[in-house]
Order: sequence, then structure tokens, then C-alpha cells
Amino acid sequence: METLEEIESAKNLEKIAELVKRCKRCRLHETKIKDVPGDGNPKAEIMFIGEAPGRDEDLQGKPFVGAAGKFLTEMIESISLKRSEVFIGNVVKHRPPNNRDPLEDEIEACFPYLNRQIELIKPKLIVLLGKHAMERFLPDFRISQIHGQPKRKAGQVYLPLYHPAAALYNGSMREVLQKDFKKIPKILELINNEFTNK
Ligand code: URA
Repeated sequence: METLEEIESAKNLEKIAELVKRCKRCRLHETKIKDVPGDGNPKAEIMFIGEAPGRDEDLQGKPFVGAAGKFLTEMIESISLKRSEVFIGNVVKHRPPNNRDPLEDEIEACFPYLNRQIELIKPKLIVLLGKHAMERFLPDFRISQIHGQPKRKAGQVYLPLYHPAAALYNGSMREVLQKDFKKIPKILELINNEFTNK
């Protein structure tokens, strides 16, 4: 079994994917079909973090490839980016059975992988999709209160957004998410200006 040390010292994203493949840190490996470590640009400026793989993701081994994924891809393209330019991952790398919410101990067990991915990618902006991703990084807030508002914590900028699956079939939430999403280029520009002006 992979040790925490192995995860924490993984040299690249491929190594993390390899460790995820043989991971038994929680019960989800018992029911998974494929591993969904996340994918995209290893030098992405923007990293999206969702909740957990669903059925389509479990079958394909890629994050956000079902209906919610199609919606996420549309929003990424609406701000003139390609999926291949960003990195997309989840707080949990294996599908919870029947798409139930990931349990706290599963999120905890999986967190070292996500943490190491963040350390390697060094994104300028982390977009937290939905409550589970947000609670991991900004536990003192509620998503209904801070969606669309960038927050800085320990030098890292986060943008919490509603989850695309929750917003997909809810007209008003969908509009809010699309509006919040459009703030991403400006937020990135502000982060970039801050560094060039220093
Ligand atoms: N929902 C998520 O949170 N992540 C995925 O990868 C797919 C759907």
C-alpha cells in the first residue's frame, strides 16, 4: 500500500495517478471501475475542484465527462479557455457507490493526493465547485453566502462556485453560476497584476 510519504513526495501528476490506481486508503476502491485522478494542463493557472466521480467518470476514468461535465466545459469555453488549458480534479478520486456524497473519512483519506496535485501544479486560482470542495478549503463559509467571491487563504486564491450538477436543472442557480463563472478572467487578471506590480 502506498504510504503517505510516497504521496507527499510524488514528483509529477503521472506518479500521483499511479498511486491513485493502487490506492486502498478508503473503501471506495472496492466498488470503483476506473480511477479518476484528474486531468488537464500540469502547469494550469486555473484548477477546478469538484466533488467525486459519477457513473460516466467511473467508466471513462476522466473527471466531469457526464452532463455536469458538458455544462462545465461549455462554461470554460465561454470564457475563451479550453479544457486542456486548465486542470480539473475532485476531492475524491474514486466514485462513491450510487453517487452518494463522499463521506468525511473518504475525503480525508484522499486529500493528500489533491494537496500534492496543488503543490505540483501551483495554480494561481483554485475554483471550488460545490459545497464539498469548498468545505475542504474554506470551512468557515457557506456556499450560498460566498459563491462568486474570491477568497485568499495562506497566499492561495480560491473562488467558490455552485456545483454544475446542482445548477444544471435549476434555472436560477444556473444563471447565478454562469454569471459567477464570467468573473474568472478578471480575477485572474487581478492576481497577475498584483504579482507584476510587486
Ligand atoms: N461531479 C463531480 O463533482 N465531479 C466529477 O468528476 C463529475 C461530476
